[in-house]
Amino acid sequence: MSVIQKAFLTNSLTHKEIVGILSSDEYNDSLFSYANLARKEHNGDDVHLKGLLEFSNICSKNCHYCGLRRQNKSLKRYRLKPKEIISLAEKAISYGYKTIVLQSGESNIYGIDEFCHVIKSIRKMGAHVTLSIGEKSEEEYLAYKNAGANRYLLRIETTDEELYKKLHPSMSHQNRFECLKVLKKLGYETGSGSLVGLPGQSISSLADDILFFQKSGFDMIGIGPFISNENTPLRSEKNGSFYMALKVMAIIRLLMPKINIPASTAMETLDKNGRVIALQSGANVVMPVITEGEHRSLYRLYPGKICLDDTPSHCRLCISGKIRSIGRGVSLTNGDSNNFIYRGGAA
Ligand code: 5AD
Ligand code: SF4
Repeated sequence: MSVIQKAFLTNSLTHKEIVGILSSDEYNDSLFSYANLARKEHNGDDVHLKGLLEFSNICSKNCHYCGLRRQNKSLKRYRLKPKEIISLAEKAISYGYKTIVLQSGESNIYGIDEFCHVIKSIRKMGAHVTLSIGEKSEEEYLAYKNAGANRYLLRIETTDEELYKKLHPSMSHQNRFECLKVLKKLGYETGSGSLVGLPGQSISSLADDILFFQKSGFDMIGIGPFISNENTPLRSEKNGSFYMALKVMAIIRLLMPKINIPASTAMETLDKNGRVIALQSGANVVMPVITEGEHRSLYRLYPGKICLDDTPSHCRLCISGKIRSIGRGVSLTNGDSNNFIYRGGAA
């Protein structure tokens, strides 16, 4: 039996085996097709579409890879008013979105009550709410949970402590781990993930990331390649590799067959067919942007972001067409992760 078949049947791999798979391209075809099979067996053929609403690009952090970092003075900053956020969400729901993902840089520019009002209003319109707004206190996470937020995304970015320190000035790796624990404890459907191809990142540390995700029992994992941004200290570094990110994602699918895995937008930036390839290699979620106009391009984590001039309704039609063209369908459910349902988390 090959190592990939073993992973498919037992949902387990050792650190050494993962390093072996990541270090060679000989497993690629079988890795991607078994990951696709695992996705199909545990999640079916339907793809969850979740509307990504980038409601503010203001950020108090200084992550070395990210265009929203505080010290990037060349970026015009914006924040949508609660009313504007709710109205964009309403439109997206009318196009068929069943989950709204509220994402922003890390900041405290909205009061907790104000933000609870946004969450409650979107929940009242019948959609699920995912938050992706960074590290907060337990009290704040609890307030949003009580307001009705269902899910939370917080990538660990890398489990390599030294590398984390270098790339995240004055941030605490330990606190990020703590936040993830608290989110899970509070009953959020919890997502994490990492960047692949960061300068100085080793294959062994990618294997650590994968085993950390499995051990933590997260419900969703988002993997994206690092893309070099000219307005950051990493401007002269090479981009991560599309195929390395795809391999990390596919191994995660074999080890965590029930979770939700998005086909990340950063993958599509590096390969014009990236999201479809990811959907055929283990992914079962796509998060099209539902932000409108100028804000789509101002939310610039990295260059080459796709679909900058498109409207949210166009994006939904476009991705739905691509999904159908590969014999898959758009899910009509609320998009809960089967892992979350299985561990008794869903309401
Ligand atoms: N390349 C790829 N992904 C990036 N992110 C931030 N900057 C970049 C970049 N230059 C990702 C981080 C963050 C998510 C919202 O965007 O992983 O968690
Ligand atoms: Fe801010 Fe997140 Fe970008 Fe870091 S990755 S600078 S926290 S938006």
